[in-house]
Amino acid sequence: MSTRHFLTLTDLSSDELHQLMARAIELKQWQREGRIHEPLKNRVLAMVFEKSSTRTRVSFETGMAQLGGHALFLSPRDTQFGRGEPIEDSARVLSRMVDAIMIRTFEHEKIELFAAYSRVPVINALTDQYHPCQLLADMQTWFEQRGDIKGATVTFIGDGNNMCHSYINAALQFDFRLHVATPAAYKPDPAIIAAAGERISLFEHPLEAAKGADLIVTDVWASMGQEEEQAKREKEFAEFQVNSTLMQAANRDALFMHCLPAHRGEEVTADVIDGPQSVVWDEAENRLHAQKALLEFLMVETG
Ligand code: CP
Ligand code: NVA
Repeated sequence: MSTRHFLTLTDLSSDELHQLMARAIELKQWQREGRIHEPLKNRVLAMVFEKSSTRTRVSFETGMAQLGGHALFLSPRDTQFGRGEPIEDSARVLSRMVDAIMIRTFEHEKIELFAAYSRVPVINALTDQYHPCQLLADMQTWFEQRGDIKGATVTFIGDGNNMCHSYINAALQFDFRLHVATPAAYKPDPAIIAAAGERISLFEHPLEAAKGADLIVTDVWASMGQEEEQAKREKEFAEFQVNSTLMQAANRDALFMHCLPAHRGEEVTADVIDGPQSVVWDEAENRLHAQKALLEFLMVETG
């Protein structure tokens, strides 16, 4: 079987993703019980970070340690990645030494090129276009709180970039309705929307998008690499804040998620993110458990 990669949620089948959710919940339970589970003994994950990270780095590194393996942190500052070695060459060399490679970078095409030349699984740990690992954690959190998400209504408020695109993929793979509210100039990619079919509805007004929602999700207004647009975006996204008025437009028992880091007072108010409907700390913790299930899947089950 050819090497499996995880560049977007569509690299796994819907059945495989559901199995992964069940396994993530089981691995979390085992971790709570102190049960040792080391299927990745002597295996090495290379972690290439071209952007900053707290959760992704710590969850992958801890996950590999808990599974009995090892993780290598590689930054462009002190490797040849930052000095222009061709991506194809880096992929061929790294993949002859390690057992899987996790990459956080800018253009999605870079990770696709890397994967094309890699002998081992490549995992997308965030590109400008997608953040599939975050969706594994978000879906696990929903499954723990509410059971299957099939048929639920999710509302994404904010920028139509990486998190929004991965929510669109998730709507297809997990079969839920997705309302997306963005400023007109920040809509998600039409090709990504088209692949998810009629499950996706675009809105201009966040309050309209929130009606009937079982889950409200948002993300920062200026993503990594867009720092110089911060002031401009604060103006353009001002109406797209998740606050108590918006939460009241959703269903009474709606949950709130945010991939973090959050900017209180910008995309979300403190009373919402720190309030009773917010599950952001479980969501952050589940990065660890969901990615352990992913690592096991890619390196043991299909490796
Ligand atoms: N949510 C997320 O990916 O966080 P980090 O940028 O801290 O890894
Ligand atoms: N959209 C954000 C997500 C961070 C986890 C970014 O790309 O910076």
